[in-house]
Amino acid sequence: MTPRIAAALAGAFAMVAAASGHAAPARLAATPPMGWNSWNHFAGKIDDAGVRAQADAMVASGMRDAGYTYVNIDDTWQGARDAKGEVHPNARFPDMKPLADYVHAKGLKIGIYSSPGPKTCAGFEGSQGHEAQDAKTYAAWGMDYLKYDLCSLGTAMIATGSLDKAQVLELAAYQKMGAALAATGRPIVYSLCQYGVAQVWRWGGSVGGNLWRTTGDIEDRFPRMAAIGFGQAGLSRFAKPGQWNDPDMLEIGNGGMNAVEYRTHMSLWALLAAPLLAGNDLSTMTSETAAILTHRGVIAIDQDPAGRQGDRVRAEGPLEIWARPLADGGRAVGLFNLSDVPAKVAVDFAEVGLKGAVKARDVWTGQPVSAPRGRYEALVAPHGVVLLRVAPAKADRRP
Ligand code: GLA
Repeated sequence: MTPRIAAALAGAFAMVAAASGHAAPARLAATPPMGWNSWNHFAGKIDDAGVRAQADAMVASGMRDAGYTYVNIDDTWQGARDAKGEVHPNARFPDMKPLADYVHAKGLKIGIYSSPGPKTCAGFEGSQGHEAQDAKTYAAWGMDYLKYDLCSLGTAMIATGSLDKAQVLELAAYQKMGAALAATGRPIVYSLCQYGVAQVWRWGGSVGGNLWRTTGDIEDRFPRMAAIGFGQAGLSRFAKPGQWNDPDMLEIGNGGMNAVEYRTHMSLWALLAAPLLAGNDLSTMTSETAAILTHRGVIAIDQDPAGRQGDRVRAEGPLEIWARPLADGGRAVGLFNLSDVPAKVAVDFAEVGLKGAVKARDVWTGQPVSAPRGRYEALVAPHGVVLLRVAPAKADRRP
């Protein structure tokens, strides 16, 4: 194609797009997906009414306005397949299409769950052998997101008796559903869930994944959340817009950690450019929980348009410094204290690539902090964090 023809075609496309009211399609998951998922709080007790109630609460609580979009149904919605092999929901989900319509009418999107194996982790119908059919069904229902959870395929992988053969089987299975989703023509975010084995961060994007779990399951207790979150060191280079590392869903508000620990959870996930999928009951959450989940400054870090994941800068025993480069040339910096007693944590901003004078703001309080000679020290609560947004002082920008 000559450059002139290419330019003419581009012009024609722009005119068609303008005439039809559509701009060029935005990249799917250009920033880490935000939403809610049923598993962490409801597990097998989720139903149609429950999903509608969470969608209602996502709007009423201000979560939608803060950026949360996806209402994701996890495992246990599946019923049987009919004679044609079509999957149907079970009695707790009478009809998926009206449910999706209900969620969409609130300005939200909806997600569903399946497995590349014959059964899901909770023993329900998986998609093996029905990939194209299931992808079409999800698209027809109006689904916008699929979490695809390894589960029973793991048994088949072990049966191959070879790591190489197991990985070929796994890749082929994830590739198959990735292609099936793409073939529907509907933009469906593709979430790989295989617990971070086989360096999924190196191949998750190549099978069409928009995000991939990097770990086993999170639990609502500080040691497990911290092991997962702080265990993400070194993975930043594998994330980019449209393709994210996923250290699992949030436990904020589920009751097993205190507010200091939940702020650490939220801060670390924002530094990690992690998907923010709330896992609590949005309809009964306290104002303290809502304030953590909807904090604009923290969400702005998670959703930073440059899409560069943060990483560990330094660890000194239980004290850790993490930083994330931001689109405005600044950095988000977390000063973490994993110990059980208060501790002083100091950072020299040259360590995070900002030499010279800086302007800094405490993200959770919104207050400026003073950082003479480009250095800052804070007394950090046990299991706590001080999260800063820092920018070079000479740049005429708000830090
Ligand atoms: C696995 C996943 C969880 C959840 C359950 C459902 O454990 O990692 O996130 O989806 O299965 O059975």
